[in-house]
Amino acid sequence: MDKNSNNKRRDFLQLSTISIGALGTAAFIWPFLSSMNPAEDTLALGTTEVDISSIAEGQSITVKWRGKPVFIRKRTKEEIEEAKEVDFTDLIDPEQDIDRVKKEEWLVLIGVCTHLGCVPLGQKLTDNKGEYNGWYCPCHGSHYDTSGRIRKGPAPNNLPVPPYSFLNETTIKIG
Ligand code: FES
Repeated sequence: MDKNSNNKRRDFLQLSTISIGALGTAAFIWPFLSSMNPAEDTLALGTTEVDISSIAEGQSITVKWRGKPVFIRKRTKEEIEEAKEVDFTDLIDPEQDIDRVKKEEWLVLIGVCTHLGCVPLGQKLTDNKGEYNGWYCPCHGSHYDTSGRIRKGPAPNNLPVPPYSFLNETTIKIG
């Protein structure tokens, strides 16, 4: 298989997600949750489990969590090195890469530009990833790096990292 068709295959790879929050589940756990405050209700129901076993190095997928796109990227060694070697104190929104990941090959981000809310490009292998090889928001020209940190353009903040955890080696729970 040539590189192009391999890229396309990866771009269109579909992965299954399981959203917790179906009506039956909600009805079942409601008596337990009814004693909590609304924020905790929302939190408990707003989780998404994602099977990451099919994501190849260098590939990204987008899943939906609480109505927002979440980017999950399995970073290459080069991308990890790029993210780590930056002097973070010089950044617009100074954050170390190590504080933005739980395992360095996996980057999980809310895929909403922090300027005015567009969804940045960079998820497909064929996308423009901007000047810092991460994501590029074409709405007004914000460039994010391989840690999802804002490096150039009008966006004031890094792409946020949602709450998430690894349930096992191949499953991430977001929320
Ligand atoms: S919304 Fe992304 S740069 Fe303006």
